[in-house]
Amino acid sequence: MSAEFSFSEENKKLAQDILKKYPESKRFSAIMPLLTMAQNQNGGFLTEEVIDHVAKYLGVATMSVAEVANFYSMYNLNPVGKYLIQTCNSVVCCMKGSDELHKYAKEITGTLNSNVSADGLFSVKKVECLGACSNAIAVKINDTFVEEVTKESLAKQVADLKNGLPLEEKFIVRKSLLEE
Ligand code: FES
Repeated sequence: MSAEFSFSEENKKLAQDILKKYPESKRFSAIMPLLTMAQNQNGGFLTEEVIDHVAKYLGVATMSVAEVANFYSMYNLNPVGKYLIQTCNSVVCCMKGSDELHKYAKEITGTLNSNVSADGLFSVKKVECLGACSNAIAVKINDTFVEEVTKESLAKQVADLKNGLPLEEKFIVRKSLLEE
């Protein structure tokens, strides 16, 4: 069991704002935004305690929140690195070589045999369609979508992140959907 979890003061206010978007009888529908907020506060992953806190906050069964957390790939149930690289594993990207790109990503980030690289910087995981099929291969790095990704462009981005540099604008096709 990890340390107890509760929303920070800032997130308590945000949670109230989120709940205002739903009728009182549909608080349950706020599970996903609250889980996302909790995951961000908890360093990028969910623990039993975090899930339990969200359930208690919403007044719903812990199992109901756990089901959502287990179903959607945007929720991480294990610690992740500072940069989470998600490679698309759906049909179009697969046809363009995303499986090989995924292996390459694990290789260059040092995560072939671990969830998190030794320097704590990277995690790499496969996810289903990122909604950018026409620009395959699609990859998401934290909240940023990068498309038409090749081994070369990915290597450059990983090297930049290792050196503390931001992702180059030319690689970014979409920022987080949450910002739109
Ligand atoms: S198949 Fe990869 S983005 Fe849709």
